[in-house]
Amino acid sequence: MIYLKTDDEIELLRAANLLVSRVLAEIAKVIKPGITTKALDTLAEEYIRDNGAIPTFKGFPNPYGAAFPCSICTSVNDIVVHGIPNDKPLQEGDIVSVDCGVKLNGYCGDSCYTFSVGEVSQEAKHLLQTTKEALYKGIAQALPGYRIGDIGNAVQSHVEGNGYGVLRELVGHGIGKEMHEEPQVPNYGKPRTGEMLKNGMCIAIEPMTTQYSRQISLLPDRWSIATKDGGLGTHFEHTIAIHHGKADILSSFHEIEIIERSNQ
Ligand code: CO
Repeated sequence: MIYLKTDDEIELLRAANLLVSRVLAEIAKVIKPGITTKALDTLAEEYIRDNGAIPTFKGFPNPYGAAFPCSICTSVNDIVVHGIPNDKPLQEGDIVSVDCGVKLNGYCGDSCYTFSVGEVSQEAKHLLQTTKEALYKGIAQALPGYRIGDIGNAVQSHVEGNGYGVLRELVGHGIGKEMHEEPQVPNYGKPRTGEMLKNGMCIAIEPMTTQYSRQISLLPDRWSIATKDGGLGTHFEHTIAIHHGKADILSSFHEIEIIERSNQ
């Protein structure tokens, strides 16, 4: 069942998603060599709760019955997604995806950005740039009358066209009162296939990409998903509403990108 949202509900979703974007911007301000991902998690949880919201990732169950222990996922280098914050200091040249979800006034926000720690390799920069571009190419297909497969095809074509891999095992999703609603939004697919998109649909589009092969493995912590060959993994995510005939991006990277430019 796909729940179509009213204009009022879309504004509630926008507020939740802009809070996630502000959390990620707070992280952009402090992420540098020496800081731990656990410190980023503490900052995120405090910011979320200080703003009257709940961190939706904390306590979220995995298929093995374990609850996620933190408020953000921090996935460093070869970890693609679902990394658990820890006490290991980040190092110059690392890349770290920070995925954050909140519930504010009953509605969910979900967005992810992959940050560079200090100066990163040209290879890492190109993978990051390509994945972010793929996200926006997917969003450009999220229009009434288009289909889910149009989004996936746009993402997949851009990622694979640049020689990178894109995960099939994990997908984007509808979002609303629940963090994960129907429909599923794969990052691969064929044009003009899948669910028809309609005004009022709210979805999270989230390409997860790999530097080399798209083969992944689950680490012994039963959360972290790493590349099998040790190559880098990246992840960018926006929540959008299909709204008045357009793709309305409810989360925002604007502030993060201003901070990133000022750090260069
Ligand atoms: Co998501």
